[in-house]
Amino acid sequence: MAQSAYTIIDHQYDVVVLGAGGAGLRATLGMCTAGLKTACITKVFPTRSHTVAAQGGVGAALNNMGDGDDWRFHFYDTIKGSDWLGDQDAIEYMCKNAIPAVVELEHFGVPFSRTAEGRIYQRPFGGHTINQGEGMAKRACAAADRTGHAILHTLYQQCLKHEAEFFIEYFALDLIMDEDGKCRGLLAWCLEDGTLHRFQAHTVVLATGGYGRAFFSCTSAHTCTGDGNAMALRAGLPLQDMEFIQFHPTGIYGSGCLITEGARGEGGYLTNSTGERFMERYAPNAKDLASRDVVSRAMTIEILEGRGVGPKQDHIMLHLEHLDPKVLHARLPGISETAKIFAGVDVTKEPIPVLPTVHYNMGGIPTNVHGEVVRGASETIVPGLMAIGEAACVSVHGANRLGTNSLLDLIVFGRAAALRAKELIAPNTPHAPLPINAGESTLNWFDKLRHANGAIKTAEIRLKLQETMQRHCAVFRKDKILTEGIKQVENIGHMVSDVQVNDRSLIWNTDLVEAIELLNLYQQSVVTIHSALNRTESRGAHARDDFPERDDENWMVHTQSTLNTNGSVSFEQRPVHLYTMTDEVEFIPPKKRTY
Ligand code: FUM
Repeated sequence: MAQSAYTIIDHQYDVVVLGAGGAGLRATLGMCTAGLKTACITKVFPTRSHTVAAQGGVGAALNNMGDGDDWRFHFYDTIKGSDWLGDQDAIEYMCKNAIPAVVELEHFGVPFSRTAEGRIYQRPFGGHTINQGEGMAKRACAAADRTGHAILHTLYQQCLKHEAEFFIEYFALDLIMDEDGKCRGLLAWCLEDGTLHRFQAHTVVLATGGYGRAFFSCTSAHTCTGDGNAMALRAGLPLQDMEFIQFHPTGIYGSGCLITEGARGEGGYLTNSTGERFMERYAPNAKDLASRDVVSRAMTIEILEGRGVGPKQDHIMLHLEHLDPKVLHARLPGISETAKIFAGVDVTKEPIPVLPTVHYNMGGIPTNVHGEVVRGASETIVPGLMAIGEAACVSVHGANRLGTNSLLDLIVFGRAAALRAKELIAPNTPHAPLPINAGESTLNWFDKLRHANGAIKTAEIRLKLQETMQRHCAVFRKDKILTEGIKQVENIGHMVSDVQVNDRSLIWNTDLVEAIELLNLYQQSVVTIHSALNRTESRGAHARDDFPERDDENWMVHTQSTLNTNGSVSFEQRPVHLYTMTDEVEFIPPKKRTY
């Protein structure tokens, strides 16, 4: 295939940010205010990015509710929540910077809910405690149950105010790497007019979110296909801790739509078919507000042991009907509407049927606290490349993320990436010429896929992949099920090679977009399920029936997985940072995790 078959338009920027969710917009804003010529490229309109769906709050120990909260308690809870796989220096950075980051959001104009005194309203959330579990903390800074919506719109407005340049409905295909392993830019396809664009940049920031859509039932938007992760894999870079998939306890049964943990923060509770508040047995202190992996496992056990609700005994009930309707109206209006539409339930009168549902990827592109991509045990920096948000693995979430720490991660590390870029790049630094064949191999696979004349439709293959991942890489895992899953994913790989694309055009070719997204989901699924088989212990969200204990001696390490060109997966280990950045807080030694 000749490059000349395509119109290619070249651009030069100091920084290119890929993705316009919370992390991408916060980074873009910081880059622009630092005077860097910045392009933000996004496959959907910025305010349709998946951050818009985040509900319950952003975590910061503001102590607005007078509960004596402190960022050091947040630090402890996040390490415990991560099951001691989170890097403690990075967690320190995030929890300490949470406070100014949220105040900054308020100053940008985020319409947070308010206390009677006019302060930012804060509610309890799973795993967030005062003084190492003495009581539950009120730490989730909330804009009713539409916090992500409020943050995303505000950040977009701020970016417009600072004249950020947006390339909207551009689909990124691949990174452009040079022979020395430096990232030099990326290649993207403009969906509106079919042109191809080579963006050259001193730094590319991947802020492309997670890949929840690799699973059948997830809270993620259809656009959550982890395109940046797949681009990193195709560039020969490793992904880290991909075995850790978070199941949110309360996706609506049947549709997967999110019912915020804030519902339990406001006093909601779960029951099984006997009407028992079973979380009291599994987490006697935190109960329904234990961390997500603990609650999701408890719900799954209840169902597996025959105490699930409904004709198929396959779900659990979430009760809010005992709460004051005024509270539901003021604090939980979004989920009240969602429950009505997707479960036909009036939350003031009846419980919502719920089920643990894939919600978040703890794994992603390994980075340091400045957002710079690193690889290997030595944490060698990949020049010219950053990753932030759910696409990245800093790692502040380790084996299990606490609710509210995702919005926090977006804004803290979006800001950190901009601070680093400001140090590294002088505005308008001239660019060295790109390698002569930059983007050629990408255009080859793109053209091949565009003309793919196989037998199987994208939707059929995607469904098979999603069902396989849901069944074989679920809340509970074991060798036999994972090994069978790997075989099935391999077969799906053959199906991907036999994909049928009917639309050969370049303008708004959603047929081709979906085929590329499928390729991206498939590549991430391969490394995910191999990583799950590789880790022979149980930690956080990774629960192995055949290795039920946490094994700190052998497995308190991050796994980095590389997808080889022959489809096999190679692993390398990276030590967990069991140290802090400053002496303001002490490293927390590992201990047994109970709630
Ligand atoms: O339950 C929720 O509102 C989700 C929050 C989160 O994932 O951080």
